[in-house]
Formats: sequence, C-alpha cells, structure tokens
Amino acid sequence: MRLVLQLACAASLVVSVACGGSGVAPGTPGGPPIVVRFTHVAADFTPKGQAARAFAELANERSDGRLDVRVFPSGQLFGDRDEIEALQGNNVQFIAPSIGKLISFDPRFQIGDLPFLFSDNAAESRFWDGEAGRALLQSLEPQDIVGLATWPNGMRQLMNRTRPIHTPADTRGLKMRIPSGGLLVDTLEAFGAGASVIPFTDVYTALQQGVVDGTIATFDNIEVEKYAEVLDYLTVANVNSLSYGVLVNKTFWDGLPADLRQILSDAMDEATVLARRLATELDETAMASLKATIDVVELTPEERQQFVDASEGVWTKYTPILGQDLLDAALRVNE
Ligand code: SIN
Repeated sequence: MRLVLQLACAASLVVSVACGGSGVAPGTPGGPPIVVRFTHVAADFTPKGQAARAFAELANERSDGRLDVRVFPSGQLFGDRDEIEALQGNNVQFIAPSIGKLISFDPRFQIGDLPFLFSDNAAESRFWDGEAGRALLQSLEPQDIVGLATWPNGMRQLMNRTRPIHTPADTRGLKMRIPSGGLLVDTLEAFGAGASVIPFTDVYTALQQGVVDGTIATFDNIEVEKYAEVLDYLTVANVNSLSYGVLVNKTFWDGLPADLRQILSDAMDEATVLARRLATELDETAMASLKATIDVVELTPEERQQFVDASEGVWTKYTPILGQDLLDAALRVNE
C-alpha cells in the first residue's frame, strides 16, 4: 500500500512539474495547484490526524484552488524510519513526528522524554512556544527543516501483559517498546526494564507476537491503536510527555509565494489551537473509557515517588546533555 502511494505521489510530482513547464506556474491564480503532502503515522481520527486534516481543509479553502494539501495518516506514505529523510528530500512537505525522534539532529530534542519534567500538555506547549523551545526548533533550519508548531499528545503511561505495575520492582525484567533511543532507554533501564525501539506502525504486531512485553504510550495511542486487545495492565504513571513537532521542508517553504505561505501559516495556527484542545479533552476522557476495557493501576503518591526516585540518575546523566539553561526554561513553565 505504502509503495503504491509513494509511486502515485512521484507521478503527481511529475504532473506538477509538467504543468509548470506549460507556462502556468503551479500556485498561480487560474493555474494548477501546488500539491502539498503531509504524512504522519497516527490514525486519521486522533488529535494529530484531525488537526492535520483541519490544516489541509483551511489552506485548500482559503487558497482558492492554488494549494492542494493532502494528508496521509497511519504511515501510509512514510513511517518512523523514513519520514524525516523524505522531508529533507522534499518527497513530502510536512511531517509531525514525536519530537524525541529528532534525536539524530540534536539530543536536546529529547527534553520532553525526561521523566517527570513537564506537569501536563499545557506546560510542554508553553515550553515549545517560549524562547528556548523556539530556538531549539529553529536549530533545524540548516537541515532544511522549519519547525512550525508543536502539538501535544498527552502523558505517557506504562502498559504490559505480565503483571500490574505499582513500583519499579514490578517493571524489572520487562522488555518495553519505545519510540526512539537515548533518554528513553536510560529511563526504562532505571526502572529495571529493557527497551526496544520499534516503529509506531509495527507496535501492535510486536505486542501481539510477544516481541516486547509492553510499551510506554499516551492514552490516545493506547485507545486508538487498541493495545488493550493484546496487553492486560495499564499503569497511569505520567512518566513523561509526548509532543509532535510539525515540520515543513525549508526549501519548499521559502520558495512559496508569500501569500500562500501566509495562508498555510494561519491555517497552522488554527490547527494548533485545535490539536491542543483535542489532546487535552482526550486526556480528560480516555481514562474512564480505558477502565472499562483493561485493569488500570493508579499510583499512590508513595508509589509514584519510587519512580521519581529511580529516575534521579537519568536526570544526572542528561542535565549536561540537555543543558542547564534549557532545563531551567522547561522547569519554569511548570510554575
Ligand atoms: C505518534 O503518535 O505519532 C507516534 C508515537 C510513538 O511512536 O510512540
């Protein structure tokens, strides 16, 4: 399926170029539209999926046929392993990976993965909207990437098939799926568990086949990806937070006519408001619906403190990697 879509996109790129060659540049009033592809790995009806669709609809409507923004959810076009490269190659113009997946550019993108740092979605969004967060996103520009916005997806919880988890003693020996390496490996190891990086679109099968014993995941992904069908225990530990970076290819972005760039930028601002509202609403309702399907452990303050204490070494190791200034900026947004 993914190959077919990639071939179709390559063909439509040829069409755009051909139209340009006929004398009417794509994006010119009365000419063919500029085709803009937005790929992401989450389902269409998640907060990310809905926000991406709203972004596309707003931009298409307001550009009066000059833009044709198309959204490809569920990793149909590119997955975790190739979407960043595809963005840099302008084979796709927008992606929205979880920010920790940008670790290969700079380890500081793991800031949201630091255990028990941000208190909630709003705090992490305040960090990325602030000076330190914006500067970090801007550091992607030499990589031909512009970070336009961040969309939260909630706090990550612990799920597994083996036993209820109340303290780090219960995670000992479990092998857990993580979305990217580095800080998350150290965090799981600090809890006594092992960690394995598995692309998002392969997680359900890996859990079903017992490749790993469990996963860290947000309420949204737990529900939508139906992890409760293959795992028996969910612990609400709020280990860390997941935010997506909405990224656009810089050469494409800079090359757009200014009025179309403004339309996309305004549509992105509105989609961001929607993404943030939906993520927070979902966090408020998801636990109730999950409780109906799976054994849910809500940690007592004493139990949670054991996870916080176990994470101390991770903070010690990552403070110089993230930088004290960045960490201070992150800590301030919780106040
Ligand atoms: C996503 O929600 O887009 C993916 C998150 C993950 O890989 O855990």
